[in-house]
Amino acid sequence: MSEPQNIYQGPERVFSGVQPTGNLHLGNYLGAIRKFVALQNEMECIFCVVDMHAITQWQDPKELRAQTLEIAAAYVAAGIDPEKAVIFHQSAVSGHAELAWIFNCVARMGWLNRMTQFKDKAGKDKERASVGLFVYPSLMAADILLYKATHVPVGEDQKQHLELTRDIATKFNNEFDAGPFFPLPEPLIKGAGARVMSLRDGSSKMSKSDPSDLSRINLTDDADTIAKKIKKARTDPEPLPETMAGLEGRLEAENLISIYAALSDRTSEDVLTEYAGQGFGVFKPALAELAVEKLSPITAEMRKLQADPAFLETILKTGAARAEAIATPVLDDVKRIVGFL
Ligand code: AMP
Ligand code: TRP
Repeated sequence: MSEPQNIYQGPERVFSGVQPTGNLHLGNYLGAIRKFVALQNEMECIFCVVDMHAITQWQDPKELRAQTLEIAAAYVAAGIDPEKAVIFHQSAVSGHAELAWIFNCVARMGWLNRMTQFKDKAGKDKERASVGLFVYPSLMAADILLYKATHVPVGEDQKQHLELTRDIATKFNNEFDAGPFFPLPEPLIKGAGARVMSLRDGSSKMSKSDPSDLSRINLTDDADTIAKKIKKARTDPEPLPETMAGLEGRLEAENLISIYAALSDRTSEDVLTEYAGQGFGVFKPALAELAVEKLSPITAEMRKLQADPAFLETILKTGAARAEAIATPVLDDVKRIVGFL
């Protein structure tokens, strides 16, 4: 679809979300949550726990509640200030569902049929996938556009959903002759950590649902577990080269180098300059030490916060009221534009 110029004039605003589906991992931290922390000082930010997305696949209700609080704890433990940024859970603001319905009527079957995440998550038997899983990207577009968000920090795997969000915004603006009513939100993806791979297989991404716990570093892992997982990470027997070009075809090695780079805020080239000629016997303990140093304080703070669920619930409730106040006038305008009486 050809894109008109984005002449949206509204304020800059960040929106992003994480699903409360358990096993929050290093990829979620480096690809998303860490970026949220940096952005809160630059723009108005809204960070959501997307529980309505979570139920597109079966979730035990008791666990869903606990995991919703766990993501809220992770946000705060990682350094998001709930006084500054809005932290809330999606189901608390009904506008997400209302706008998603309208977007289901804007998006085309063909657009959703192209979504690779649906194909991955639905697996072989697509007939048995929930309808919610199929229209998941419309709900994600609604999350973002309900707040007229202009910037969306996410990992690489969400790029296609952001493109669809822009297509929905464009079609809505054009068909209803609404001018630049919705912005065309910019994905913020670049940088080390946008695609953290499995520790067991450098060709698949680190994922909450990988049956092997050794494939990922969970934000709840203690120091010994982190060290053990890095020690057991799959690698090759070759020493580290001097340049990134020398890592070609060595996916697992490349992944560990880029994790080191992301955790230390350095470039992969810089890390290779330091470790060129060394084997994994030297590099892995250094990476383990760095990972523990960066993650342990977050894990400890998460535990502390999770011991006080009432405090976390208050944060979510206060955040929901702030989110609702931004969403209500937008949704009112949308209803008027669409022609609802
Ligand atoms: P999810 O766990 O699917 O709700 O993802 C939450 C955020 O983490 C999204 O912005 C994802 O793009 C990001 N993310 C998930 N897995 C990874 C990964 N392996 N590497 C980098 N970012 C990731
Ligand atoms: N789909 C995202 C994921 O799986 C989560 C998400 C839902 C999201 N709504 C969003 C991310 C809005 C950014 C903006 O990671």
